[in-house]
Amino acid sequence: MVEEVVEGPRTQTGKKSASRDPVPLSQVSTEPIARQTTGIDEVDRVLGGGIVPGAFVLLGGDPGIGKSTLLLQIAAHVSQQGPVLYVTAEESEVQTRIRAERLGVNSENLFLLAEGDVRTIIAAIESRPWLMAVVDSLQTAYNPEMESAPGSVAQVRDVASQIMRVAKQGCPVFLVGHVNKEGSMRPAA
Ligand SMILES: Nc1ncnc2c1ncn2[C@@H]1O[C@H](COP(=O)(O)OP(=O)(O)O)[C@@H](O)[C@H]1O
Ligand SMILES: [Mg+2]
Repeated sequence: MVEEVVEGPRTQTGKKSASRDPVPLSQVSTEPIARQTTGIDEVDRVLGGGIVPGAFVLLGGDPGIGKSTLLLQIAAHVSQQGPVLYVTAEESEVQTRIRAERLGVNSENLFLLAEGDVRTIIAAIESRPWLMAVVDSLQTAYNPEMESAPGSVAQVRDVASQIMRVAKQGCPVFLVGHVNKEGSMRPAA
């Protein structure tokens, strides 16, 4: 049994949301979207041909499987085209720099931020038009306004929804998620 704190609604009541007209399927533009390659064919294939604006990708896997390594390589590749933000709530900037050196990646356009507070992470993502951002990881980022511990069900849900909202504004975001022994991304009970 895991206690789950239900947070109150954050939207202002009584305020009508702006209405938007649904569009007929046939009128949706099918002009090809410019896709950014990750530099790794298999990853591009899984993404349907590359990274699109507003993409929100959850990269799940066992601890130690190579998620941070893969995303650092992708981030370094994309940063050849423009600025890329790599947020790590798990390792220090120095650790990430050492890993980058080991991988032989080096880019003036790759920016590191060692931070777990989701408010700071969101502000950093919104601070400039990044080509892409990485947040490593879902379970270690947290909202300090919530009482529950980082990695708890309530925190994971809040962090994921906040980061998804910022991704939908245009900056593609890759979010790392650890998979537990049960094969689930939710915290172990
Ligand atoms: N493709 C790979 N082949 C061999 N070793 C790898 C590969 N990717 C990562 N590693 C090694 O595996 C270890 C864990 O990788 P890491 O990226 O930290 O995993 P995660 O972020 O999933 O916990 C590191 O020592 C890393 O150098
Ligand atoms: Mg990692």
